[in-house]
Amino acid sequence: MPPVPSFDPVSVRAAFPILAAGAVPGMNGRRIHYLDNAASSQTPRPVLDALIRFETAERANVHRGVHRLAEAATAAFEGARAKVARHLNVTEQTIVFTSGTTMAINVVAGAFGDTLSAGDEIVISELEHHGNIVPWHLLARRRGVVVKALPVTAEGLIETAALERVVTKRCRLIALAHVSNVTGAVLDLAPVRAAAGAVGAQLLLDGAQRTPHGPVDLPALGCDFYAFSGHKMFAPHGIGVLWARPELLEAMPPFLGGGGMIERVTLTETSFARPPRRFEAGTPPIGPAIGLGAAVDWIAGIDWAAATEHEKQLTQRMLDGLAAIKGLRVIGPTGLQGRIGVVSFVLDGAHPHDVAQVLDAHDVACRGGHHCAQPLHERFGVNGSTRASLAPYNDAEDVDALLGGIADAVAKLA
Ligand code: ALA
Repeated sequence: MPPVPSFDPVSVRAAFPILAAGAVPGMNGRRIHYLDNAASSQTPRPVLDALIRFETAERANVHRGVHRLAEAATAAFEGARAKVARHLNVTEQTIVFTSGTTMAINVVAGAFGDTLSAGDEIVISELEHHGNIVPWHLLARRRGVVVKALPVTAEGLIETAALERVVTKRCRLIALAHVSNVTGAVLDLAPVRAAAGAVGAQLLLDGAQRTPHGPVDLPALGCDFYAFSGHKMFAPHGIGVLWARPELLEAMPPFLGGGGMIERVTLTETSFARPPRRFEAGTPPIGPAIGLGAAVDWIAGIDWAAATEHEKQLTQRMLDGLAAIKGLRVIGPTGLQGRIGVVSFVLDGAHPHDVAQVLDAHDVACRGGHHCAQPLHERFGVNGSTRASLAPYNDAEDVDALLGGIADAVAKLA
């Protein structure tokens, strides 16, 4: 029987060695207030244990050897794929391991994109991460497709009322963030799904900021492609996933060529393996994939109803504290409705890098800059913002340290 999911913020926190007081060098025994989870979350002990087990008892290449280590590594790697598939309620054959969300979207741009013609349209939005903008620009250069963008409302939400105008019969793909990495806004999926369905376009969701906040039931989402990274969901860096509907994967040509993705190679031609391996050229990130398997097991052991309530309480505490600071503007929803605990703000007269530096002096880790979302910042008339992003291990002390640090930044910079 699987363990009964539970949520106790103190024991959740205790599973992350780097969050313990004194763990980070140079902090004289103090703990870090880690609020840069939207860039990289931290890694719990079970994931670290899985990595150490692989590196010390199973390490070898996969799908290439018959010795016992090669077999153990292959079993652990494919076991991780099976865990990820179960976590998303889909089949193993539809899980393509990549190096992260950006590579997953590049695979779609390279493989599905190769089936498009000049004049075909791809619809993104003004709030996308560069990882869901630049691959389409490159495809536009290669194949003459047209990239169009849905506008963003003053609250930092994708303006779904514009779908009717922007999505035409030439649209082949709508590619949007499931959750914004800047505003924390969750996509209103129903109208997007309807707009894609009405013109027969595929729907790609960038799930990088959604997957760290609880299991995702992919069939229930009704999308065609889903991309996410391990390093934001408690797994190592260098691993990500592209999921696609099986018919799409079967129909797509490979994007990258090399070892592992072939059926047969002669000097004049190559035939390709079936998905998912058709899209996994070269030695894959084996240890990180095994770490991702352990991470989804860890996520499955959390009571997400309780964890989400905890995140909401901390987000409210953060929003209330930010609202009380004169000269501070939140980029995105100012309430709890339709958002997760990713909050970006601008402080009048202060550069976001300087704000992040003052926060660092208060032991608070936040990201300052454009967060790889320059068009969104341009939409709000700023070059960048400071971002605090929550994970289940954060607590009220982290939020209070952030608010105290901002008060100091106001005194020093604004
Ligand atoms: N995509 C990551 C972020 O938003 C790196 O910070």
